[in-house]
Amino acid sequence: MDFISEKLAEYLSQNSDKEPEILSKLNKETHQKILQPRMLSGHIQGRFLSLISKIKSPLQILEIGTYTGYGTLCLAEGLATNGKIFTIDRNEELINIQNKYFEESGNRDKIVQLTGSAIDILMNLDENFDLIFIDADKENYIKYFEIVSKKLNPNGIIMSDNVLWSGKVVEESDNDQETNTLKKFNSLLSKDERFETIILPLRDGLSISRLI
Ligand SMILES: C[S@@+](CC[C@H](N)C(=O)[O-])C[C@H]1O[C@@H](n2cnc3c(N)ncnc32)[C@H](O)[C@@H]1O
Repeated sequence: MDFISEKLAEYLSQNSDKEPEILSKLNKETHQKILQPRMLSGHIQGRFLSLISKIKSPLQILEIGTYTGYGTLCLAEGLATNGKIFTIDRNEELINIQNKYFEESGNRDKIVQLTGSAIDILMNLDENFDLIFIDADKENYIKYFEIVSKKLNPNGIIMSDNVLWSGKVVEESDNDQETNTLKKFNSLLSKDERFETIILPLRDGLSISRLI
């Protein structure tokens, strides 16, 4: 869900850095051929991911939830020379479209695709990261944060997507498992003294937590 009007969203698009051509193609193909295209980060959030990555210039990035690879390519734009992005998804059917665009991007050799359940993969992943993007099943957000916070380098950043969950996080009557987990997740992060955290009302809500 977007928290701003269509007119303002259009204004943001027109007055922000343009969506690179390859990402615009991937965006279009995802909408034409893949189920649930709203899962893709999209123009403005994608440019934001790219900008944060460029500011941070990370050596290693982790993404939980690759989908068609839009966020992966945005994050990869800021990788340091010799940097790598590890990206996890359990859906094998997405690998062809990911590969097509990863090849075309020129960043193929910097992208490591890991296929399977994110928790299983994370438990066996012996790597540390400067930048982490959590963007998979909401029920596991607290577990993901617990696991990845131990793999984060000092001054590292964790970004978590969809934390406002279409505004359901402020509704007492919304008590499904995903909403409850996100309510708890946001509250835990705001009290976690290891991190400074801010929630941005970008798209469906994106929180940024910096390891102090
Ligand atoms: C919102 S999409 C990711 C969007 C992508 N990060 C982007 O920026 O365009 C979420 C993805 O997480 C994957 N996913 C959901 N639960 C998962 C799990 N338990 N383990 C691994 N992948 C999972 C889904 O298959 C889906 O492709």
